[in-house]
Amino acid sequence: MPEVPGPRPEPRAGNISQVRIDTSSPEQTEALGRRLGQLLQAGDIVALSGDLGAGKTVLARGIAEGAGAAGYIASPTFTFIRAYRGAVTVYHVDLYRLDRPQQLEDLGLDELLDGTGLVVLEWAEKAGPLLPAEHLWITIRFRNGDDTRTLEFLPRGPRYTDVVQTVARECASSR
Ligand SMILES: Nc1ncnc2c1ncn2[C@@H]1O[C@H](COP(=O)(O)OP(=O)(O)OP(=O)(O)O)[C@@H](O)[C@H]1O
Ligand SMILES: [Mg+2]
Repeated sequence: MPEVPGPRPEPRAGNISQVRIDTSSPEQTEALGRRLGQLLQAGDIVALSGDLGAGKTVLARGIAEGAGAAGYIASPTFTFIRAYRGAVTVYHVDLYRLDRPQQLEDLGLDELLDGTGLVVLEWAEKAGPLLPAEHLWITIRFRNGDDTRTLEFLPRGPRYTDVVQTVARECASSR
């Protein structure tokens, strides 16, 4: 498994602890996703944000693998939602092509988010108020022309805070 560089914890206002982890290859991002996927459970929600090509699908693939989902995760460009059965059912949702809020209802996203699957949402900002208050928000930032990605973790709720702290601790100790 490729080594992931250490995290850069940053205390924030309130009780939210934001953590940043840099990766320098798609393999590292996927490995980080796999570890997250092992720690996440049925019913959890991961909201991914970041520009086109940032690495949301790469991370989602790792999360699904880590959660024990079978099958390869390609970016669902033409379908909004793809389900992967495994130890946990993983729903990979990509809202990029969503252009009307009404489509969220048509998709039944609210039921999915209240359900028992592990939901990974790309372009999560488009979910708007449908996104439950408790979720793990991850923003991926990149610089053009290089493979470095900075993953910024914003856990909303104690469960996700635990998950992020575990990952941050492990990354720090593997340095
Ligand atoms: N450190 C890295 N982490 C993730 N991907 C990387 C990294 N370095 C380079 N890449 C490349 O960046 C691209 C990320 O593509 P990906 O489809 O995951 O982006 P995305 O955020 O899902 O984009 P979209 O918004 O179009 O769905 C891939 O081609 C991948 O190989
Ligand atoms: Mg994608």
